[in-house]
Amino acid sequence: PSGQLWGGRFAGSAAEAMFALSVSTHVDWRLARYDLAGSRAHAGALLRAGLLTEDEHAAMLTGLDELERRVVDGGFAPAPTDEDVHGALERGLTEIVGRELGGRLRAGRSRNDQIATLIRLWLRDATAAVSDAVLDLLDALAGQAERHLGVPMPGRTHLQHAQPILLSHHLLAHAWPLVRDLERIDGLRTRLSVSPYGSAALAGTSLGLDPVAVAADLGFAGSVPNSIDGTAARDLVAEACFVLAQIAVDLSRLSEDVILWCTHEFGYAVLDDAWSTGSSIMPQKKNPDVAELTRGKAGRLIGNLAGLLGTLKGLPLAYNRDLQEDKEPVFDSVDQLLLLLPAVTGMVATLTFRTERTAALAGGGFALATDLADWLVRRRVPFAEAHEISGACVRWCEQRGIDLPDLGPDDLAAIDPRLSPEVLEVLTVEGSIGSRDGRGGTAPERVREQLEELRAACAGR
Ligand code: ARG
Repeated sequence: PSGQLWGGRFAGSAAEAMFALSVSTHVDWRLARYDLAGSRAHAGALLRAGLLTEDEHAAMLTGLDELERRVVDGGFAPAPTDEDVHGALERGLTEIVGRELGGRLRAGRSRNDQIATLIRLWLRDATAAVSDAVLDLLDALAGQAERHLGVPMPGRTHLQHAQPILLSHHLLAHAWPLVRDLERIDGLRTRLSVSPYGSAALAGTSLGLDPVAVAADLGFAGSVPNSIDGTAARDLVAEACFVLAQIAVDLSRLSEDVILWCTHEFGYAVLDDAWSTGSSIMPQKKNPDVAELTRGKAGRLIGNLAGLLGTLKGLPLAYNRDLQEDKEPVFDSVDQLLLLLPAVTGMVATLTFRTERTAALAGGGFALATDLADWLVRRRVPFAEAHEISGACVRWCEQRGIDLPDLGPDDLAAIDPRLSPEVLEVLTVEGSIGSRDGRGGTAPERVREQLEELRAACAGR
């Protein structure tokens, strides 16, 4: 047997370049164990339909078990003549149980419904592994947030000093997008839990086979309501590529912060030796390569999503061979993320923060100007006017090379008579941070509360 599942109507064999293009075992072989699981469930359906005797069914399962052992220990691998994982495994089964029995398994199914099922089974496991790795990163972020409760840092918008915040608040801001990514994976897994097995080529299965029973055997919640959709749809693979790309983008934004924090100019944090690299020429260098590879690979995962959507957009129903191109992008996105996530987790967990520096810079760049305006508002000055007055204070300070808390009673009175010296009491970093005490704000008790909320969101996953 050649490992090719067709040929009767062909007089000649495939051209070499045609076969080289067509062959997919180098990509789809990782689905072998899922294909074997599908075959076991399908053998059960054949038995129930009276198309396999009890003895044949038992021999089939024994053969499939033996084949699985050979696949796992490497004793059986695709041959150069095998077109795809399905053909290779039928060849392997036939070598074990003989042509007569081996040739019975393919009845009533098609590679079209097989592959659509296998990718869902594979994604079920792959997304579970990604979720676990995301949870580890969430744990590292929560741990750093907990260790640094109460440490101020500059909060930025447009990368310019904006208002003082707590370092923990900033770290947790990188956690919540990842929690939403986990929720996205949950939603995807619900949709993945519908089996296309029994859709056959496109029109559904014949021979009295029961797709619902096969679905249950394979651990799906149900089977597809439309066999054409079951074989031709790849939106779930695209959705997986999106969620994976979104995770990569979230990691990339976190990484960009780490890269900035570790510059000499920011100096907020220092990378652990185990999670950084040196330079072949510059002895002093300590480079954030984990963060940079993360930022770089995010582009690659976006490309995987864009490429797959491009493949899908013009396809008529039902199955077209173009659909084979779904696997390389989604496999690559998962492989890359499973490399990235542990590295980013290690980098984050071991980051040392220079808290005296983040605290010292927190009020810089006139970051307390909003607090000054808010003080005026509490004294019944309309905010638009308060904004003007606070802006005038900033200009005054800029011209004299001083900061807002350095303003004396004479300066304040000269800027606006409503600015009494008590305003200086609110011009502190701690006061500013403590005043932002609405839900979700940067006040210490709110940050402690959101840390608990994060831990609760992760617990039980
Ligand atoms: N290898 C194909 C895929 O990944 C499945 C095989 C379907 N081939 C076919 N000629 N109908 O989509």
